[in-house]
Amino acid sequence: MPFRPRYTGLIDKYRDRLPVHDDTRIISLGEGNTPLIRLHNVPRLLEKDVDIYVKYEGLNPTGSFKDRGMTMAVTKAVEAGSKAIICASTGNTSAAAAAYAARAGITAFVLIPDGKIAMGKLAQAMMYGAITIQIKGNFDDGMQLVKEMTEHAPVTIVNSINPFRLQGQKTAAFEIVEELGRAPDFHCLPVGNAGNITAHWIGYSEYAPPSDGPVTEACTSCDGHCPYGGGGIVGSRPTMVGYQAAGSAPFLRGGPVAEPDTVATAIRIGNPQSWDNAWTVQRESGGWFDECTDTEILAAQKLLAEREGVFCEPASAASLAGAMRDVRDGKIPEGSSIVCTLTGNGLKDPDTAIKQSSAPVITTEAQLDAVKTAILDNMD
Ligand code: F0G
Repeated sequence: MPFRPRYTGLIDKYRDRLPVHDDTRIISLGEGNTPLIRLHNVPRLLEKDVDIYVKYEGLNPTGSFKDRGMTMAVTKAVEAGSKAIICASTGNTSAAAAAYAARAGITAFVLIPDGKIAMGKLAQAMMYGAITIQIKGNFDDGMQLVKEMTEHAPVTIVNSINPFRLQGQKTAAFEIVEELGRAPDFHCLPVGNAGNITAHWIGYSEYAPPSDGPVTEACTSCDGHCPYGGGGIVGSRPTMVGYQAAGSAPFLRGGPVAEPDTVATAIRIGNPQSWDNAWTVQRESGGWFDECTDTEILAAQKLLAEREGVFCEPASAASLAGAMRDVRDGKIPEGSSIVCTLTGNGLKDPDTAIKQSSAPVITTEAQLDAVKTAILDNMD
């Protein structure tokens, strides 16, 4: 039987398109290479002829897409001699930062909004041994503090304003193009800080450079040009669509939101750091932003779990919630191929999941008769 070489993470795989050297010590947990799952039941429910795929980023080592960026950011921090990293986070960045710092043998300081991150994410930061600072404020306050802290202590920021984060995250677009053999027509993502939508656009643009080269204004991570790799793989880029939670939708309001609020705590962000980049992506791709209510987000999360067997966290479901509405309304036309990024694993936030599930949980005596009744009463 022919054996495939062991998958050793996205830096090894895309080395020629990433800013690493032959002797760079790679800090990896085998991130990337996540499944692109074709939905069967959701398109049928919509009664529309569309191909919907979900890119299940919740299967990364710490359960979110952040690992793609963190392997690069921590690798480069270590290469530069940094002994400590710092981030503000709604939970997933802190989990990833903590894990990759542990792997590298350096310290992670994480600032999180007190009481506003999902329990699984807090458990991760603590177990990976980060120093967790719970602030009595939101993500935007934390981001401001982190930026100020770099003037007072030798710490490397690993939020997505660190350009290496976007370089790592662009590889998700590479994987999608390689698997489909082309770019999808539409790519839908939940938007918080807007780093990920920017990173995807950089990736798609590298694989399908416009006529004047693989340059996109969004690509600030290499001062406006991509020296890594280059050369077209496919002929088109998708229309990029970003969905925000209605209570936390600065791109829809046209400016910062002072008190963002949503059940999708991962995207509870009022002042996105990649504001300009995201508008560039919208313009260059001919895409749009829209918002989803918490009710729509939770309904999509539940639908995906109950009808497709895919469990994502609430913020991730905003991509599908929005895409379903745009397909229904015809804004995304029939015949389209659509990729929705499921940014994080549903296990991150069991409290929200259990609260909204209506699946029967029956408690009985441990006796055959009782179990028989429970089963026979629930047969179709
Ligand atoms: N989905 C999930 C599950 C996230 O954790 C985030 C961001 C996003 C979507 C939005 O991505 O910011 O690149 O637009 N989480 C950050 C964090 C802010 O701290 O974990 P974005």
